[in-house]
Amino acid sequence: MSITPVPRVGVIVVAAGSGTRLGAGEPKAFVGIDGRSILRHALDGVFDAPSAHVVVVAPPGREGDALSEALAASGDRRDLVSVVAGGGTRQASVAAGLQALWADVDIVLVHDAARALTPPEVFARVIAAVEDGAAGAIPVLPVIDTIKRVAGDEILGAVDRAELAAAQTPQGFRRDVLDAAYEAATRDYTDDAALVAEAGHAVAAVPGHPLAFKITTAADLDRARHLLAAPTAHLPARLENTPLPPRVGVGTDVHAFGGEGALWLAGLEWPGEPALSGHSDGDAVAHAIVDALLSAAGLGDIGTHFGTDHPEYAGAHADAFLTRTAGLLGEAGWRIGNVSVQVQMNRPRFAARRAEAQRVLSEALGGAPVSVTATTTDGLGFAGRGEGVSAFAVALVIPA
Ligand code: CTP
Ligand code: MG
Repeated sequence: MSITPVPRVGVIVVAAGSGTRLGAGEPKAFVGIDGRSILRHALDGVFDAPSAHVVVVAPPGREGDALSEALAASGDRRDLVSVVAGGGTRQASVAAGLQALWADVDIVLVHDAARALTPPEVFARVIAAVEDGAAGAIPVLPVIDTIKRVAGDEILGAVDRAELAAAQTPQGFRRDVLDAAYEAATRDYTDDAALVAEAGHAVAAVPGHPLAFKITTAADLDRARHLLAAPTAHLPARLENTPLPPRVGVGTDVHAFGGEGALWLAGLEWPGEPALSGHSDGDAVAHAIVDALLSAAGLGDIGTHFGTDHPEYAGAHADAFLTRTAGLLGEAGWRIGNVSVQVQMNRPRFAARRAEAQRVLSEALGGAPVSVTATTTDGLGFAGRGEGVSAFAVALVIPA
């Protein structure tokens, strides 16, 4: 059996910007180009390039969404993905990404998610230049326009175009060089190459690619849309859909009695029964199912997607959680095989409404079969003392 070596290369994909100039009403990384977001396209390109530890730097609070995109792009290399929250500037976001890189990584590429259509060959060229001994290497394109130096509306002179190049990403560096340059930086630089040059290192240029243009304005987004729609588009081929085996996941949840209003459990309202307490409705059955499904798909856990930083889920019922979870799995390329959940409690008596609960839970999951069983604990433990309920769920997910 061969053991996959830990990659020497790390790619930091900065995606934490707000996209003010695009003005799409949400962070630029999550804006759709076609059926896929800017971030997803950028990550498809990263995963088509040589194997690397991939650190996605997400807008704070959107780490769960970024993780879903990264896992969907990663195919069978989910273990290579990390997600961290970004900072207030691109430089702060890169610094956050650097902190998350694995210790074995000794070549770091920093890539703008906004350069969503960058072909894998650009990654390969940058990596090769650093492997060949450059402290840093960046992709550049010749400048096509004639460039003038101006002061206000006065032309001061021409600039020799041959001396100029437009810088793109991914920009690659020896890890020790980039770490030291970031530690020494006392102000903001326009790109990583400038920061490393300021620290006294020569940075090499390798050929960039027109498709590595940055999506900044609505016109850039239109250009990307046209390129993807064109039948002759010469674009990085999406990874072959390597067949993945089915996966299982387990989830548990416990809630205490003592909430306000009516009891909600297994997706049903139970009039006259004491309520459970919790950030949402305390439905331990639904929450255990969510954890089992997210765990099976490798998408984190309930806190990743529905934590207290998502106020829209305060007071929400099972259908909201389960529908969103099924959606997350679908986006990541999974379909739900089945879910089995057992709840431990003294009351309510469950059997009479089992079929109804199973139907409601199954519908919220888009039709996947859900079995619910209930048991008592012979008077033992908190469930036996009637202080609360606990639920245990197992889920099977299948590559879609
Ligand atoms: N970026 C980041 N953290 C920031 C700012 C930018 O990770 N605080 C990332 C962006 O997500 C983008 C890349 O850096 O992938 C290049 O930045 P830019 O194109 O300027 O994106 P935004 O800052 O999002 O856009 P705008 O400046 O129009 O707000
Ligand atoms: Mg910006």
